[in-house]
Amino acid sequence: MSQLSVKHLLGIKYLTTEDINLIFTTTDNFKQVINRKIKKVPSLRDVTIANLFFENSTRTKLSFELAEKRLSADVVNFSASGSSVSKGETLIDTVNNILSMKVDMVVMRHPMPGAGIFLSRHIDANIINAGDGTHEHPTQALLDAFSIREKLGELKGKRVVIVGDILHSRVALSNVFCLQKLGAEVMVCGPTTLIPKYYHTLGIKVEHDLKKALHWCDVANMLRIQLERQDIKFFPSLREYSLMFGLDLKTLNSLSKEIIILHPGPINRGVEITSEVADSSQSMILQQVENGVAIRMAVLYLLANQKEQGKGLAL
Ligand code: CP
Repeated sequence: MSQLSVKHLLGIKYLTTEDINLIFTTTDNFKQVINRKIKKVPSLRDVTIANLFFENSTRTKLSFELAEKRLSADVVNFSASGSSVSKGETLIDTVNNILSMKVDMVVMRHPMPGAGIFLSRHIDANIINAGDGTHEHPTQALLDAFSIREKLGELKGKRVVIVGDILHSRVALSNVFCLQKLGAEVMVCGPTTLIPKYYHTLGIKVEHDLKKALHWCDVANMLRIQLERQDIKFFPSLREYSLMFGLDLKTLNSLSKEIIILHPGPINRGVEITSEVADSSQSMILQQVENGVAIRMAVLYLLANQKEQGKGLAL
């Protein structure tokens, strides 16, 4: 198979296992490219991509822009702050105005869950979801799974625990879908208040004791507490959260096997993980960021290639 089954990357939910494996083998090739002296290829010459960020980002925004430039695409960047969104312009009007400038692909981060799905019903360009509220962040899950595959080999049978603020996380849901499609066993761990009830229906384990979760897993993906999305208190204090669910070196070293630590960033050092853990040899945080560029090159390349051949499905 050399084509994705989708026209847009709106969520991992809409990808097949074959799609994910195709993205990974394409990523293997692009990872070689970005480690060469000449890091640029002409694959997306004459393709114009708009990066629309309606919400803050460091890693995802820079990573997409770098991936697009490495593929020789023409790139325009839009941030909601300082734009006409604050004057009351609708999402469709904003995007249609940008598309009138002959844009082929849209990478969008938006605070509303489903914003990319909504947009895909109204415009022709390929849409890549760069994080939609608390819903999905598909390229983050792909780069997380790719990083595990790089370190541990195939994901089938591997045990991955996602720890922390599951309720407000788009990374968690995309990771659950991606890991399940690749045959991994998945657990979420955190305070009861930060694990939505519907997670019990996803066919994964739910644990509230971090030590038990760490003894069970091969990989721990430590999520950030998203205080900016919390308008009520979900736990008494950050100090108490950190005591119950924060990972320090003593706990890591007390485990009977060496596990891998992932974190999507940005890190709250001393809250979900200590600096010693973040900077330890078991942490893959910077490899995740490196793999993010290659993953995004693969996604952009495959979607653009598929569009040229006109075989995209509806979603
Ligand atoms: N991992 C992630 O999405 O980071 P940013 O919010 O900085 O893009």
